Amino acid sequence: MVLALLLTSASAGAVAGHGGPIKAIAVSPDSKLALTGSFDYTVILWDLSTVTPLGRMVGHDAAVDAVAFLPGHRAISGSDDDSLILWNLTDGKPLARWKAHTAKVAAVAVAPGGRLVASGGWDHKVILWTVATGTPRLLAGHEANVNAVAFSADGSLLASGDYDGRIMLWHVPDGTPAGTLRGNGFPVNALDFAPDGRLVAALGDDTVRVFDLAAKREALRYIGHTEPVVSLALSPDGTLAASGSSRGTVEVWRLATGETLRNIYATLGVVWAVAFPGDDARVVSAGNDGALREWSVATGAEIVGGRPAIAPPPEPTDRGAALFRKCQACHDFDPNDRSKAGPTFWHLIDRPAGSVAGYPYSPALKASGLVWNEATINRLFADGPQAVAPGSKMPLQKMPSARDRADLIQYLKLHAYGGRVE
Ligand code: HEC
Repeated sequence: MVLALLLTSASAGAVAGHGGPIKAIAVSPDSKLALTGSFDYTVILWDLSTVTPLGRMVGHDAAVDAVAFLPGHRAISGSDDDSLILWNLTDGKPLARWKAHTAKVAAVAVAPGGRLVASGGWDHKVILWTVATGTPRLLAGHEANVNAVAFSADGSLLASGDYDGRIMLWHVPDGTPAGTLRGNGFPVNALDFAPDGRLVAALGDDTVRVFDLAAKREALRYIGHTEPVVSLALSPDGTLAASGSSRGTVEVWRLATGETLRNIYATLGVVWAVAFPGDDARVVSAGNDGALREWSVATGAEIVGGRPAIAPPPEPTDRGAALFRKCQACHDFDPNDRSKAGPTFWHLIDRPAGSVAGYPYSPALKASGLVWNEATINRLFADGPQAVAPGSKMPLQKMPSARDRADLIQYLKLHAYGGRVE
């Protein structure tokens, strides 16, 4: 029996938990075991009654993004190494490695009965695998990274969601298209079907949407989160939903009404995965701190482990940091980050205006002849960008208080050189 064997091997020495953030959680049908997949390349099997690791499964060559249980003491996992591994849970060894994706496998789901597995990849592919033979069937149609896959409770439909917000529906087992939900352009990060057939989608626009597929409409929108929603689980009877955000929170809410029951601060950073271990009373979560944590829905308290509670990140007491929040949407101090709307502030002090290589400056700023230092940054916010560099793309803003400007400039000086004042 699976549990006994792995317990025997574990009793020789306690199995350590993950050595990196956890990306995925699955709970066994009898709710006794959990599987987690991690950035540390491994899959761990857990005893859920004590939340202790039983065995570590090594086989992937990169982060593990998705895990699921299969009947017959088996499991499936998907990884950044572009492959899926079919595992034997009795000895923790791979039974087969499935290769048909050409990019990260971000999501897996097991059809009711366990004869089919669906996977979604960053190669824009959805693949339906026959478990017995490992034969792939490609379901083409997505034009963006596929982040999520889910089977309906009766196994007749598969849903897949992508980074552009599109959700595609497929007939199972033949894989023919069954419809598309266009979405709103924000990423679909997780999908699940309620027992009654409604489809639930966690989105990058901070919402969770519940779709009534029969009536072809959005039935409910959950708006409790203030950050992108990255993980989602429904309780076995479909009464409750748990959703995890990129701000470390797990919200537990009623699927029928959208009423929030619990708001749990679960980890520093991202809650990559949530699950209901068996009933409506408990929820498990995992994320950036690499720990599997179990919470009481009734109280919001952590149930086992006696680990210290996690405090939400404090509001900055430093006035400069608080003022920098006005800039944060468009600027950071990362020398390599090209994702912000404005240029990086790395080495900002004594830097000529318009000089970050590769950044698409306005001709006006490039030609301004300014050099950024205490005096010029002070002037930028005392008089406003339009006065200092007319024609710049910099949004119109002023900071009337001289003290605010001084505090902000101190903060910029400190962080522009990684914390050392030059
Ligand atoms: C909504 C986006 C946005 C916000 C908010 C914003 N900026 Fe900018 N910032 C820009 C853009 C865009 C540019 C490039 C302007 C150009 O090319 O004309 C820029 C340029 C700059 C530059 C010149 C950098 C260089 O390399 O020449 C400085 C200095 C600057 N911003 C300071 C700030 C500070 C300080 C704050 C916060 C108080 C702030 N900005 C808030 C978008 C923003």
